[in-house]
Amino acid sequence: MRLRDALDHAARRLREAGIAEPRMEARLLLEAASGLSAVDQIGDPDRSLDEATAAAFEVLVERRANREPLAYILGEKEFHGLVFTVSPEVLTPRPETEILVELVRECLPDPAAPLRILDIGTGSGCLLVTLLTLCRGAYGIGTDLSFPALRIARHNAERHEVGDRAGWVCCRWADALCGPFQVIVGNPPYVTTSELAVLQPEIRRHEPRLALDGGPEGLDAYRALAREIPPLLAEDGIAVLELGRGQGGAVAGLMREAGLEIVEIRPDLAGIARAILLRKPAQPTVA
Ligand SMILES: C[S@@+](CC[C@H](N)C(=O)[O-])C[C@H]1O[C@@H](n2cnc3c(N)ncnc32)[C@H](O)[C@@H]1O
Repeated sequence: MRLRDALDHAARRLREAGIAEPRMEARLLLEAASGLSAVDQIGDPDRSLDEATAAAFEVLVERRANREPLAYILGEKEFHGLVFTVSPEVLTPRPETEILVELVRECLPDPAAPLRILDIGTGSGCLLVTLLTLCRGAYGIGTDLSFPALRIARHNAERHEVGDRAGWVCCRWADALCGPFQVIVGNPPYVTTSELAVLQPEIRRHEPRLALDGGPEGLDAYRALAREIPPLLAEDGIAVLELGRGQGGAVAGLMREAGLEIVEIRPDLAGIARAILLRKPAQPTVA
């Protein structure tokens, strides 16, 4: 079969299945099946695909037409300039989560300073691994209730050569740990249970429910984190949490009740309050 015919057929199949950018995704799937880059494909559209390659391409196209996330099919997703291994055991890293990395970076003037970082609900490890690549003097711990997720996170730490500065703990939030940590980050599950049913099929059918379901109001994880963060956070430390749409006020209230100070709530590019920066209030100085 000619490459251009296989590509046309795949793009049509993906368009019918409701994929927003069918041609671009068809090219990526063809690259995964054949090893031919987009440049190779564009440069020689009349080359013929052997039978095994054409069959492998068709399998990938069918998986995508079944609305399996492209990242799971390719096995990789880019986050903050690094490529992470992903599988259906972990949430695929989202671009909006990069705000957490930026907030932490802005708060740490010396990237080489020694510090301890905690990533609660690490999933693929994208937050902790990225922070460790940026903070060369840091040691970090990632927690998750999902043991298979921690295996992927550890693999990603090794992939990005920070494995010797990372530890992985399977526990509920951070209940197996002692502080203090100078930096605590977390992107907890925050989708309300009722919203889960109407999410796009890629998320609803394929991403791990444990990574998404935040309970009836989407706030269950934040309630747990409001209890867990204060005793683990260093006196001069910061905590940065991702927020679901419309959750800024409620999460700020929970954290304030837990004795934390709200330093900033930062919007994402769409103007949605996406991350909350917290610290411990300054202690009054004794004269
Ligand atoms: C929204 S995902 C975030 C994953 C990753 N940090 C990211 O930003 O892509 C939430 C993560 O929390 C984990 N999780 C859910 N409940 C947990 C719990 N009770 N204790 C620890 N981790 C939990 C899930 O397995 C999932 O990996």
